[in-house]
Parts: sequence; C-alpha cells; structure tokens
Amino acid sequence: MSIEQLREQRIEAEERFATDPHRPRYHFLPPANWLNDPNGPIHHDGRYHLFYQYNPAEARWGDIHWGHAVSVDLLHWEDRPIALAPRTEGVDELGCFTGCAFVQDDGTPTIAYTGITPAPDQPRGRHESQSLAISHDGLLTWEKLAQNPVIAGPPEGLSLTGFRDPCVWREDGHYYMLIGSGIEGAGGTALLYRSADLIEWEYVHPITVGDAERHGTMWECPDFFALGDRHALLVSTLGRQMYLTGGWDREQLTPGAEGWVDFGPSFYAGKSFEDAHGRRILWGWLREAREQQAQLDAGWSGVMSLPRVLTMLPDGALGCEPAEELQRLRGEAFSAPATELRADSEVALEVAGDCIEVEAQVELRSETRFTLTVRCSPTGDERTDVFFDARGGRLGIDATRSSLDPGVQARVSEGPLALRTGEPLELRVFVDRSVVEVFANGRAAVTERAYPSRPDSVGVRIAAAGDGAAMTRLNVWRMRNIWDVLPGFDAGV
Ligand code: FRU
Repeated sequence: MSIEQLREQRIEAEERFATDPHRPRYHFLPPANWLNDPNGPIHHDGRYHLFYQYNPAEARWGDIHWGHAVSVDLLHWEDRPIALAPRTEGVDELGCFTGCAFVQDDGTPTIAYTGITPAPDQPRGRHESQSLAISHDGLLTWEKLAQNPVIAGPPEGLSLTGFRDPCVWREDGHYYMLIGSGIEGAGGTALLYRSADLIEWEYVHPITVGDAERHGTMWECPDFFALGDRHALLVSTLGRQMYLTGGWDREQLTPGAEGWVDFGPSFYAGKSFEDAHGRRILWGWLREAREQQAQLDAGWSGVMSLPRVLTMLPDGALGCEPAEELQRLRGEAFSAPATELRADSEVALEVAGDCIEVEAQVELRSETRFTLTVRCSPTGDERTDVFFDARGGRLGIDATRSSLDPGVQARVSEGPLALRTGEPLELRVFVDRSVVEVFANGRAAVTERAYPSRPDSVGVRIAAAGDGAAMTRLNVWRMRNIWDVLPGFDAGV
C-alpha cells in the first residue's frame, strides 16, 4: 500500500471506530486488527519509528507481521507499509516475531527478528531462528538477507523453553545479541551471542539465569542497555515485565536490584531505545482484558502504552516518567483548590471525561488509603480505583468494579512504592477510554484496562480512608485526540 492509501485507510478506520467507547484516542494502535509487542523502536534522522507485532487480517493473534508507524513528535503517527511479512521459505514461513532495530557502523539500518518455521517434532510445531533485514530507503522497505537465518537454532546441549526476540547492540568492536530463553529446570534466561560481521555468530553463555519461582521459566523480549551508572535487563516473564539492574563486566550481568516495570499484567513486552536527546524511552503492549469475542466484534485488539522515559535511581531501581511531550496533548484545564480530605468521605469533582489526564499531589498520613476514582458512574456501580495505601506502601488499580459487563476481567494490580518521610504522593493518571495508565513519584507505574458499560461512567472522585489527607494540588486536562489532525495533518515525515 502506498503512503496515500495508508492515510486513507487510517482516516476511514478512525471514522468507523469514532463511536466505539473503548477505543483509545491518544495511545497508538494500528488502524484495525491485532497488535502485540512493540518491535525495534528507533530514532533515526529526526523521526521516531515504531514497529509492532501485527496481524493485519484479524483482531486476534496469528500470522504475525511487523507493522510500522512514524512520528516526529512522539505523539502523532503516520502509518507506513508493513515492514516484514512472513512466508520466506526456511526463514519465517509462519511469522516474523519480535526483535530490534539498530544502525550498523556503515549507516545501514538493520532489523534483527525471530523467524518462525514449521517443525512438527518441536513444541507447538514451530522452530525459532534469528534473521536480519536491512533498509536502503530510510526505513521504508526492508530486504531480508540471503544468509538468513543467521542463527539457525539454539546452542547444542541445552534444554531450553524458547529461543526468540533478539536484542542487538555494539560494544568493544563486537556486535552482541541477546536471545530470550529459559533453561529447563533452572529458570528464565537470555543467551548471549557475539559476532564481528552480524552473519557469523558465536554463542557465549547465558547473561544471567533467573530463579524459576520468582522470575519465571521463560524470558521473552529481553531488552538490555546501559543507563546511568549501571546496566538494565528488561524481560517479560509470560506474565508481567520485570527488570534486573546491576554491573556488566566481562560479558556477565551481576544483578543488584530487581522489580516490576509496571505492576499491571496488561503492560507486557516493553522495548526501549535511546533517542537523539539521550533519553531511554520505553513502549509496552497494553493487552486487552476482555473476552476474545468482544475483541473480534470490536475489530481491534492491543494498544501501545504511552512513551515512558526510564531513569536509573541511586539504589538501582528503575525510574519511569511519562515523556514530557505528552503535555502538548493537554486541552481544556480544570484545577481544584488545595483541600483537606476528611477521613472516609468521597468527593466528586466537577470535571468528568474518558480522555483525561489527572495530576495530583497529596500529603498522606501514616494510616491513609488515598483513592482517585476514574471512569465512575453517578451511582458508583462502575468505578476504577487508583489507590495508594500509605500503611503498606502499595500503589495500585482496583478494577474489580470497572465494568458491569461480566466478560471483563475484574482484578486488582498493585506493587510497592515506599515514600520517604514527608514526601507527598505525586500522581499522573492518564485515562484514555479503556486505558488507565498511572505513574507515581517518578518510580512506579501501574496500568489497567477498564471497559465501563455505561456511557455516564466518566466521573472522577477522590477519597482518603483511614486518616484523611491534604490534597495540595489537583489538575485535570482533557486530552486531545491524536487522529483529529487528519486528514490535513502533515506529520513532516
Ligand atoms: C511476547 C511474544 C514474543 C514473540 C511474540 C510473538 O508477547 O510472545 O516472545 O516473539 O510475542 O508475537
């Protein structure tokens, strides 16, 4: 499809879905059908490129291609032709799975990805190998290398739970590749390979091996990079995404700290890149939390998270903030004066909406459970509660009452956030129809999906159970629809 046709397709899709109450308006998603992992994000020649696992035919996983979109501002996107399609014999007949993008020393943009081929004797009937593709036209079209697959299969003698999702980088005159895997009977791991020319690869060893109990038996989508004074390894454990940070020496990672990238199970397979401003930016796949039939009926499934900027905190924990560009999506504003929240009383704000950002600063007492409720119906029978419990130091989202629809997953997602003495809670809550994405104090994130059945489930409420709290700042903005700029929009790409 030409870029003009892709533009038409996007306009038609946004018109067709305009009345869908659950389709996000300022998070990226394809025009229709299925999205999973972000792939190969890269900032190249002033443009942000986002590739993603894509089924162009249906709103369910299968026949995986690499979709592609491009942006100059991290906010507004233009679709590009499919970057990688399956069917190359002996390389990727059954799918082009997750991988990364990088630029070779000679300036050639390159993708490394996992190709899936049929293998009746292997688990799930498929074989995983690693392949490369290069672009000669500024990342628009991609040519698979004749030497593919460059790594035809796992190292001999290891009993592995998987072998996919390459992450490539350059260091000390070598190319390195990490491949997501797991050692049967031990735990998830990422296998390190080394190469001089990207074609011949030598297996080195597992970069580190996790503990199956705590870290799972298979690590998908490893993402490895230097940040601040340490290195970080992000892995997706078939449930959530975790990080390990620590020292990197003689091709071994010595983890010193670990934690969840996001406390919610919706956020998965996050992949990061460094932009021209030196920021380490992460996108993740926000999985749906409703039945497959509802996804097929909707005609779309899967959303990209907001771009998050990662930081290395002094104790080795991974910090995370929404990219500052997002402030440019803020429209009409509402501010509430500083108020004392009495214990056990709930206050409904005068502002409502399903595409909003709420920013709050709250001073808590030791026994306070602060709740900021979004997507709340007038009677409160549908409500999604963002909470912080000062006693246990827990941040979370209670989505058990987010929808009266029984086909929606009702769950609580939470994790630890320790506030220092006197440190207020600093919340940024992004509501985008069925997405609720929460950031706290630059060091914790939790994301959930919510599909209220009532059109009037748009209220915002605040409450402080236990001990009361002082609300020192509260701002709400209506967020702009990133597709409103079409069709006259010129993304400058
Ligand atoms: C993670 C994952 C990857 C794989 C891809 C397939 O969500 O399972 O391990 O490459 O999705 O779409």
